[in-house]
Amino acid sequence: MSMTHITIREVGTRDGIQSLGAFIETPRKVELLEALCETGLERIEATSFVNPRAVPQMADAGEVMSRVRRRAGVKYEALVPNMRGAQDAIAAQMDALLVVVMASEAFNRKNVRMSVDESLSEAAAIKALADASDTPCIGAIGTAFGCPYEGDIPEERVSGLIERLLALGFSDLMLADTTGMANPVQIERTMGRVLDRWGSSVGFGLHLHNTRGMGLANVVAGLNAGVKLFDASVAGIGGCPFAPQAAGNISTEDTVHMLHEIGYETGIDLERLIEVARLAQGILGRELPGQVMKAGPRWQLHAV
Ligand code: COA
Ligand code: ZN
Repeated sequence: MSMTHITIREVGTRDGIQSLGAFIETPRKVELLEALCETGLERIEATSFVNPRAVPQMADAGEVMSRVRRRAGVKYEALVPNMRGAQDAIAAQMDALLVVVMASEAFNRKNVRMSVDESLSEAAAIKALADASDTPCIGAIGTAFGCPYEGDIPEERVSGLIERLLALGFSDLMLADTTGMANPVQIERTMGRVLDRWGSSVGFGLHLHNTRGMGLANVVAGLNAGVKLFDASVAGIGGCPFAPQAAGNISTEDTVHMLHEIGYETGIDLERLIEVARLAQGILGRELPGQVMKAGPRWQLHAV
């Protein structure tokens, strides 16, 4: 029996690094990207093309992408919030664009200074531009499982946004737990319904944060519902601009370690990935949340 393949979409150099205070120099970002792409990863959200005043860490997006040595077989993707970002990302020859629309009106305004409807119009224009240059364009629904301003997000609101994005021609969607508010019961229930309804024609992935320690439990819940694509951040880099001490995305190496332990296959070389997690700690100059890089993989026995 062949093992089920799970795709890991690395987001450390975007979602992870974007919230850090001290600017990470361009060559260090390039070094981290190149090291990550030697581990067997297939997809990476390498950067974002955003207003540098809003996100100073991503000000060198174009420079990073022109310097990085690209590995064949890896898709280098970028988050874009508006048409300007989409144009820049296409000029930088990104392999795919990702457009986020929040399920929460309040969070969307904080994030991009637009209403949800305005973001959807922007998403429509970005999708059309991407189609015209044959660039895949992924839709993402942020704060899909809860919002720090609005609290619970009704499932119907997420379903409504899925319908609207599908109407714009999107066929790959990520549902994001932007600030780590989802629990495993909720993930399994929501993703079960979503995949039942649209799973035969639409690709769905989960973007999870470990803000409250439920990250890997939510991965298992997603797997149980049939999800086969997960975002993760090497070493668990990241945080949340709205909670200074908050943990970041689920850690890529902890996720891969767990997936391999429970019988899934990712195509990723875990030992190499652990080395990259340690490299990330060196580059950032501090301890990062990833746990397997500290304890070592479960199968690595110690001398008696
Ligand atoms: N890349 C670079 N510069 C951009 C830009 C982009 N994608 N979009 C806008 N700008 C520039 C404009 O050219 C303008 O520059 P100027 O003042 O020199 O003329 C300036 O930013 C303001 O433009 P405006 O359209 O008014 O944008 P804004 O200030 O309202 O910001 C966003 C809106 C969406 C661009 C900004 O909030 C943003 O980049 N958010 C990203 C947030 C994010 O990455 N979140 C990640 C989690 S989803
Ligand atoms: Zn995120």
